[in-house]
Amino acid sequence: MFAMRTLSALGLALSLGLTATAGAETTIRVLSDRTPAHLESLFKHYEQINGVKIEAVFVKKGLLARLKERPTEADLVITSTGDVLQEAKQEGLLRKYESKTIDATLAAEFRDPDDTYVTMNYRPRVIFASRERVKPGEVTGYADLVDPKWRGRVCVRSGYHEYNLSFLSQMAADKGLDATRSFIGGLKENLARTPNGNDRNQVRGIYEGVCDIALANSYYMPIMMSNPEQRPWGEATYVIFPDQDKGGAYVMRGTAGLTTAGDHVAEATKLLEYLVSKEGQEFVVNTTFEYPALAGVALPEAVRDLGKGQPGIEDGRFKARFIAMPQVTPQRDAVVTMLDEINFDSK
Ligand SMILES: [Fe+2]
Repeated sequence: MFAMRTLSALGLALSLGLTATAGAETTIRVLSDRTPAHLESLFKHYEQINGVKIEAVFVKKGLLARLKERPTEADLVITSTGDVLQEAKQEGLLRKYESKTIDATLAAEFRDPDDTYVTMNYRPRVIFASRERVKPGEVTGYADLVDPKWRGRVCVRSGYHEYNLSFLSQMAADKGLDATRSFIGGLKENLARTPNGNDRNQVRGIYEGVCDIALANSYYMPIMMSNPEQRPWGEATYVIFPDQDKGGAYVMRGTAGLTTAGDHVAEATKLLEYLVSKEGQEFVVNTTFEYPALAGVALPEAVRDLGKGQPGIEDGRFKARFIAMPQVTPQRDAVVTMLDEINFDSK
């Protein structure tokens, strides 16, 4: 009876064009702190074309702590800031990937020098400015955020948020601690209010007349524009890519890497390769409105529109200042201390 059933199940599987091992399909486990919606459709598509299952766990916070606690819970980790995987690498929580495809297709600035993780996509920390109150060309770079001209007119979220810590750590690696300390001090002087809420809330502050300029990630413009409630915030503002005549804009990197789990290394590597393939990149770029690590991937129209009219910006393409991650994360403690010293988050 048992054999009969197995045989008929096999016959069914074959007649459906499946392989005999279809019942025992591989499961790739993913741990991520990205917004689930950014990855779910990509995963579903990947499952269909590859006949594997992807089991994803999404955490809002504390990904590194979770990885330390359960280092082999997932095969692949995907994070919204590169700092997290750089730290994971330093903690010995990542496995080197081996992929000729990635080595051949991805530019060096998107590959960890030791091949432990890759950048999938990136987005600049840009300046949103009031269409009504800030003339084009009046604000061009990060230095404007600390110019006394904008005293009491700047909105920014908590200095301790991952985006700002990464941004300030990049500045520290790039310009030194003294320059960063005076930037943090100047920024606090210019704040319109106590830092609160997320990036979009700062843009909303411009819409509500609380401030004239704000620091936020670029993709929030297209996200706000596609949300009826937030559209007015987007419409009240425009995006300025900072420091295009200088070193370029600092970027947040979305990264992915293999954990030390040993069960599905080949399958997880294949998924990693897919994430930075043309098709995977198109998925990511179109759902996140971020910039692709792979060259030659078209940007969605909403991204091409960013920075329109700003000198040097063509079709949303901007000059980025890539500071190597191993230089960035060692600055974090010093940045936190500087924020503490001036009580950055309290007015
Ligand atoms: Fe975000």
